[in-house]
Amino acid sequence: MKSIRDHYFSNTTVLVRVDMNVPLDKQGNITSESRILAAVPTLNFLLSQKAKLVLITHLGRPKDHEAIFQTEKLALRVGQILGPEVIVKSTQDIVGPSVKKQLQEIPYGGILMLENIRFHPGEVKGDIELARALSELGDTYVNDAFSCCHRDHASVTGIPDFLPSYAGFQLEKEIAELTHLNTDPQSPFVLLQGGAKVSSKLGLLKALLGKLDKLIIGGGMAFTFLKAMGYSVGQSLVEEDKIDVAEGILQLAKKTNTKVVLPTDFVVTDDAHQPTYTATVPLGEIPNDLMGVDIGPKTVQLFVEELSPAATILFNGPMGIFEVPAFNKGTKELYALAGTLKNAYKVAAGGDTAAAIETFGYVNYFTYISMGGGATLAYIEGKQLPGILTLMD
Ligand code: 3PG
Repeated sequence: MKSIRDHYFSNTTVLVRVDMNVPLDKQGNITSESRILAAVPTLNFLLSQKAKLVLITHLGRPKDHEAIFQTEKLALRVGQILGPEVIVKSTQDIVGPSVKKQLQEIPYGGILMLENIRFHPGEVKGDIELARALSELGDTYVNDAFSCCHRDHASVTGIPDFLPSYAGFQLEKEIAELTHLNTDPQSPFVLLQGGAKVSSKLGLLKALLGKLDKLIIGGGMAFTFLKAMGYSVGQSLVEEDKIDVAEGILQLAKKTNTKVVLPTDFVVTDDAHQPTYTATVPLGEIPNDLMGVDIGPKTVQLFVEELSPAATILFNGPMGIFEVPAFNKGTKELYALAGTLKNAYKVAAGGDTAAAIETFGYVNYFTYISMGGGATLAYIEGKQLPGILTLMD
């Protein structure tokens, strides 16, 4: 895989696939800009060589040309971050004469950001004609979107068929850190696993069980495990069709000598988003009409004790509904612990995890925060990511 360090981009036009798929609030405001910031070192490197950049990103999963998913606001933010000396414009089309004309007007050292690539139906189909049309806009292609590399999409795997292609700094960094975690985790290696569903983390759990010393499970998914162990969990989220899978994971953990730690108390409520009643109850005493929405204080203490001796920790998924301040305590306190474990290698992975860390202001507590969601999990599971394979060809 060639790096952008291996080429001189001066006075050429470079297509840069970034992942500026940032979270938005209901009004379309950007609520976390870490993915924009993650692309900046690559952009600055190319701009410093006086390259002209065509930025390609998707935003959301639009069904149509929904205004909320237009990339103009991203271009605006990129311009503010890079400063007034860099011209940053955005397009309303993705390919075609109007884009070519706009591109001609951009000076070297400037940026043209294309409209949301997913507004084009060819993107998710991996349409080769779209890839060809995109490739006609530039001389080279840079992929700095590790978090999209699990997608066989035109702007990810198609363009390298037509242009000399290079890996950007963010993509290289993700591969280096996640490879280190996969191949060389120092023991004790602990996974703090949260999130709502067992089904979405199944591959990760299976892939890591042989390597982990300890598996700590919180978040909504804990209830499927607890139900599998025979506990009543009231109205808490349970994936009924995954109870046997949870059982299988517990058995596999036994075989691989992995200690499994589950919550011993919970914050419960009548309504996760408009609560009128909340309480803390021990395991086994969740009332039939209430649901668990966070781990309780005894569990926080237990998890802190279990995490503290770790040399390597992977944080994946929140411990409760962290978006609701009343239910964020478990997630907040355990992520804060990362700030005190100075000698451990602490990696955070997954969109919700990164968003929670940013909301709490704990970014500096971690050795590395992966920008990827599905791509990161797939990589840790040992899957080959098509976007990376294409760069290696
Ligand atoms: C992500 O958010 O994980 C990436 O931007 C990929 O988005 P997608 O899951 O919509 O393909």
